[in-house]
Amino acid sequence: MKSNTEKFGKTPHQPSLWTRADALKVHADDPTTTQPLVSADFPVLSNEVFIWDTMPLRDLDGNVTSVDGWSVIFTLTADRHPNDPQYIDENGNYDITRDWNDRHGRAKMYYWFSRTGKDWELGGRVMAEGVSPTAREWAGTPILLNEQGEVDLYYTAVTPGATIVKVRGRVVTTEHGVSMVGFEKVKPLFEADGKMYQTEAQNPFWGFRDPWPFRDPNDGKLYMLFEGNVAGERGSHTVGEAEIGDVPPGYEDVGNSRFQTACVGIAVARDEDGDDWEMLPPLLTAVGVNDQTERPHFVFQDGKYYLFTISHTFTYADGVTGPDGVYGFVADSLFGPYVPLNGSGLVLGNPSSQPFQTYSHCVMPNGLVTSFIDSVPTDESGTQIRIGGTEAPTVGIKIKGQQTFVVAEYDYGYIPPMLDVTLK
Ligand code: FRU
Repeated sequence: MKSNTEKFGKTPHQPSLWTRADALKVHADDPTTTQPLVSADFPVLSNEVFIWDTMPLRDLDGNVTSVDGWSVIFTLTADRHPNDPQYIDENGNYDITRDWNDRHGRAKMYYWFSRTGKDWELGGRVMAEGVSPTAREWAGTPILLNEQGEVDLYYTAVTPGATIVKVRGRVVTTEHGVSMVGFEKVKPLFEADGKMYQTEAQNPFWGFRDPWPFRDPNDGKLYMLFEGNVAGERGSHTVGEAEIGDVPPGYEDVGNSRFQTACVGIAVARDEDGDDWEMLPPLLTAVGVNDQTERPHFVFQDGKYYLFTISHTFTYADGVTGPDGVYGFVADSLFGPYVPLNGSGLVLGNPSSQPFQTYSHCVMPNGLVTSFIDSVPTDESGTQIRIGGTEAPTVGIKIKGQQTFVVAEYDYGYIPPMLDVTLK
């Protein structure tokens, strides 16, 4: 049987490894890597819909971009059902927790706009019903292509299967607001191949999603990050010396950690338009450490590649753990080697007293980190919770070499533009 690293051959690069030894350095509640407590009296963006993954409009270099002075975000969105008998419990009360937990199955892409980079106004659905080929419209990235306002929305078409797709449309502004036009033809780009990236047939719990296209600041080519799992039948992976890393005596037992096989995938475009893609071996693997490295994205700073990805406590392997939040890795060149930021990888985790307060963090090049509120305890014991489905307070981090520090907190859903494009 091939080891996980042998699988990817000698060219063009070997994936970097997030090892069990690295993960042993993850510590919840370190104030420099912990998100400030979110208060249970947070405001909600909308009483009609839940929102979660937030995708600011940006250019291919990663800059968050406004158009004609309007900031724009895309969000995964699902209707709230306070009056639907399906979500009324035996006491006649709305079971918001169950409604919230069911949201992934009906996720749709919506957009919002704002003059202030917060206080978002609902624009509506990006694609009309029936345009997207699958039941679920999962996370991705809206890219502003030019001064004509053309936008390529890369996203994941899920159930049946999971396909990375894109749809082109246009952003149009007036004095009063923003609309999205077009977005009528969805183009499938690629799916997991079973050789580098695990397929549904190999593992019904596989992950293949969350495209994040970008232009490499050094070679100028168009690439895309995405979430994957390392190819191979579920249970067939090996957690060997390389995946374990340099652990202290007594930490060699890997338990059932062969079931955790997350990776950060990368593909390169064969054309300028990003219609034709070739998958490459993953940039980073977490075999034996964690099963999900979601929504991978970059910040290019100080000539370095800062790779961020979100992960959960429940997806960690036996014998290692860490908070829900965003993790990061840094390299001097695109294909690595990557080393975990702060030694462990943890950049911004939930405090242990509120382990589900936020998720789906996106680190922007200005050091601001946006996320959504999942649930916040409303009593001391943590048994009563308030469901969010709305924007969390934005956090400021400072990225310095191989370290990061929490340095600021801003308003709910504060996503200021880094540049403004005047449309022609
Ligand atoms: C992160 C995530 C994404 C996925 C979406 C599904 O919160 O799990 O990876 O695209 O949510 O709702």
